[in-house]
Amino acid sequence: MKLHNATGLGLAFAREALGRGARKVYAGVRDPSKLRLAGVEAIRLDVTRPEGVAAAASRCTDVALLINNAGIATVGGFLSADSIQSARAQLGTNFFGPLRLSQALAPVLGANGGGAILNVLSAASWINSPLLAMYGASKSAAWALTNGLRHELRAHGSSRWLRPA
Ligand SMILES: NC(=O)c1ccc[n+]([C@@H]2O[C@H](COP(=O)([O-])OP(=O)(O)OC[C@H]3O[C@@H](n4cnc5c(N)ncnc54)[C@H](OP(=O)(O)O)[C@@H]3O)[C@@H](O)[C@H]2O)c1
Repeated sequence: MKLHNATGLGLAFAREALGRGARKVYAGVRDPSKLRLAGVEAIRLDVTRPEGVAAAASRCTDVALLINNAGIATVGGFLSADSIQSARAQLGTNFFGPLRLSQALAPVLGANGGGAILNVLSAASWINSPLLAMYGASKSAAWALTNGLRHELRAHGSSRWLRPA
């Protein structure tokens, strides 16, 4: 199993995976010293850095579940002065991050019997607001990514995991 990160929902996912008997749990974190959870192997990972993602994928060859959890949110509307810059940053983490991780780990998941990818989205994927406009756009893009991956991974057998219950 692979996920990120060291705080918030990432920490809750790691605890839950351990509690449910996952044989191995990796946590992709920018600062491994922040991770204080016994039984979890920290992997230094910034999801915006392609070379680090490739290195993590080549190290974690036994992954059967990828949780794309890393995310950032910046307040502001589409018409605010810094909206383009803000969009680039949030798309970089919230869309290109899971895209990059999914590309890097799809072959690993396939080699391990199909596996599954869990992308952490948001209500903001569907409901945009001026408070978190760019965040919503990035999470909408991540939703489209999730739908697209479902089709592309069907050949892996992974799609059975991605269907809504
Ligand atoms: N909290 C909510 O109400 C809520 C609601 C809907 C969806 N979500 C989504 O849930 C996910 C987790 O959020 P959270 O609430 O647990 O927030 P959080 O506590 O701020 O956790 C976000 C985590 O993402 C990591 N991260 C950010 N950029 C990264 C990068 N470039 N590479 C690697 N890790 C990176 C952060 O690592 P550092 O510790 O290094 O900063 C942090 O540990 C996010 O995708 C968020 O959009 C949250």
